[in-house]
Amino acid sequence: MNYEDLMLHAITNAESFKYTAKPNPVVGAILCNENEVISEGYHEVYGENHAEINAILKAEELLGKKFNNFSDLTLISTLEPCSHQGKTGSCAKRIAATGIKNVLIGAIDPNPLVSGKGIKILEENNVKVISGIHKELVESQNSFFFFKHKNRRPYIILKIASSLDGKSHFDNGERTIITSQASRDDVQVLRATCDAILTGGNTVKNDNPRMNARVDFPVNQPKKILLSSKEFEMNLNFFKDGQVKIFKTKDLGEIINSIGSEDISSVLIESGPKLANSFLKLGLIDEIISYTSNMNLGQNAINWFHEENAIEKYGFKLESSYKVDTDLKEIFKKNE
Ligand SMILES: NC(=O)c1ccc[n+]([C@@H]2O[C@H](COP(=O)([O-])OP(=O)(O)OC[C@H]3O[C@@H](n4cnc5c(N)ncnc54)[C@H](OP(=O)(O)O)[C@@H]3O)[C@@H](O)[C@H]2O)c1
Repeated sequence: MNYEDLMLHAITNAESFKYTAKPNPVVGAILCNENEVISEGYHEVYGENHAEINAILKAEELLGKKFNNFSDLTLISTLEPCSHQGKTGSCAKRIAATGIKNVLIGAIDPNPLVSGKGIKILEENNVKVISGIHKELVESQNSFFFFKHKNRRPYIILKIASSLDGKSHFDNGERTIITSQASRDDVQVLRATCDAILTGGNTVKNDNPRMNARVDFPVNQPKKILLSSKEFEMNLNFFKDGQVKIFKTKDLGEIINSIGSEDISSVLIESGPKLANSFLKLGLIDEIISYTSNMNLGQNAINWFHEENAIEKYGFKLESSYKVDTDLKEIFKKNE
């Protein structure tokens, strides 16, 4: 069997579960003998079975039919099997208990609860382990998860919708629609990709947004985070579905540390200019996604920034840029 190709296959198919496995990483596992694939398993839904367990359960049904002994099988797993008990038990212990003797791993789990410990359990049980097969692909496929464990805080994306003349909204206590329906649909998918959405009190008061991911595929809905010292009526749209966490402090570093200690690897900020600039000044934003419409709002509207080329001055460089209907979508990443 070509193990590298099987690893690529597991990586590719694991991607299908990126909206339902989050905030966990996507993981794929394949069991094969020398001639054929016996079973495949994926981590499909957060809180449910890990990929390796799903592959083992499927193989158990074929024991004595397609193969006679787990010791004849090789397990290919895109991520190091977990060592800790977690929500579903230790995968490394379960693999060892089946009698599997060979395990090939894509990337080592960056979670300090697991990192290297899953491999240790396997080796202590006389399982031969090789890791690092298509490691970069596994890491980029789970970039938020790897970022969080490396930097000990979530990856933070700021989304802004801007008029051609650089405005955010009219200060009239109502929602200002700037961009096309296609851009707003694109934002729904962006929300579906992230583990949490964060906004401020003025936005919740003026726009009454739902801030959930309204997409036509299954998604583990992002948690909602509100920064405000104000009191709110709980019948506002923002509080209607999903978990909401409210922070009354204005210390953004403290807030991000607190969010980072939870099961959140990525945060999408959808706020107005005041809160967005506060985050930018502290250097807490990793990526800016900007949608610019082809209309001007004029002098009475509120500016996103006070300076020309503010995004670049905050240390970002344009990474990609393309049209979404009549709008321009631009992605800026932090200069390394
Ligand atoms: N064009 C767009 O993409 C877009 C997106 C979202 C919103 N908007 C518009 O933006 C307007 C509101 O903008 P905004 O910036 O005034 O309000 P905002 O987005 O609600 O941000 C300000 C809020 O953040 C809270 N906050 C906590 N810590 C802060 C800090 N360190 N620095 C600044 N604020 C902090 C404030 O708390 P307190 O309540 O305690 O003062 C305040 O409620 C809305 O009317 C909406 O229409 C536009």
